[in-house]
Amino acid sequence: MKISVVGAGGNVGSTVALSIAQRDFAKEVVSVDLEIKKDDKTFNPAKGRALDEWQTAPIHLFDTYVHGTTDYADTKDSDICVITAGVPRRPGMSRDDLLGTNANIVKTVTEKLVEHSPDTIIVVVSNPLDVMTYVAYKASGLPAEKVVGMAGILDTARYRAFLATELNVSPKDIQALILGGHGDTMVPLPRYTTVAGIPVTQLISKEKLDAIIERTKMGGGELVGLMGTSAWYAPGAASAQMVEAIALDQNRIFPCAAWLTGQYGLKDLYVGVPVKLGKGGVKEVIEIELNADEKALLDSSAEHVRSSFVDLGRLMTF
Ligand code: LAC
Repeated sequence: MKISVVGAGGNVGSTVALSIAQRDFAKEVVSVDLEIKKDDKTFNPAKGRALDEWQTAPIHLFDTYVHGTTDYADTKDSDICVITAGVPRRPGMSRDDLLGTNANIVKTVTEKLVEHSPDTIIVVVSNPLDVMTYVAYKASGLPAEKVVGMAGILDTARYRAFLATELNVSPKDIQALILGGHGDTMVPLPRYTTVAGIPVTQLISKEKLDAIIERTKMGGGELVGLMGTSAWYAPGAASAQMVEAIALDQNRIFPCAAWLTGQYGLKDLYVGVPVKLGKGGVKEVIEIELNADEKALLDSSAEHVRSSFVDLGRLMTF
């Protein structure tokens, strides 16, 4: 199993690479990024970070060979490619503000990847996530089930972590589902949130749960405010979990950005829904029952994502 990670000179990409290696299911992780010129010197962050990561193998006890490159030829015959390339958010920016810059980067990167791995599966991490997944889908020419976006696992992880802190229980016991776009309009679903099978609404007051839902929606922004750039540990771990599910054909059920063809009354867009992830990518979009309020929130989140597709249409055609 060969996995390539583009943008691996940056925080998210390098954390994806290390998280995959630590799970120790792949033969090889190829970390790809550009060289950087600074003060008349040339640096190769993907190579450097990958070397540093590989040197943790004797300590973390993994075999996955992590190495860095600037040359897409080294990604040849990758089973799975992860795209984290693009600029991250700075304080005051929304994910949508990145669209103009990142669309061209994701398009170029995708074309280079499929040139060397025409049958690969692509996991997109770059923001704005839902529309960047669409860019990779169109630029790759791959079937939609082979192009999937990482957001829901990250957003639910934040929600679950906040709940674990509030309830003073293990985060392992909290299961949850978030639908919609990866942005402030995302739709956490209290009705589908349980603690060891117990509906969360039996364990927490409505006020506290509402506050946690609001904090979850702004979870990425909270971290940008604290660090001056966007998060990487949880995004990296979430991406690695998706890659592992595909690589090992685990049939995991995760919220991911998937191409809709009428499910939930939505079509021709990528947006976050529960999917079955395994060999070949998205095996199935799972349609859960939504009440009128939940459906209205999903529709409005999907509308927001669709407006980014319109903005994208002004920038590029496929
Ligand atoms: C976040 C970025 C990765 O939510 O979108 O932290």
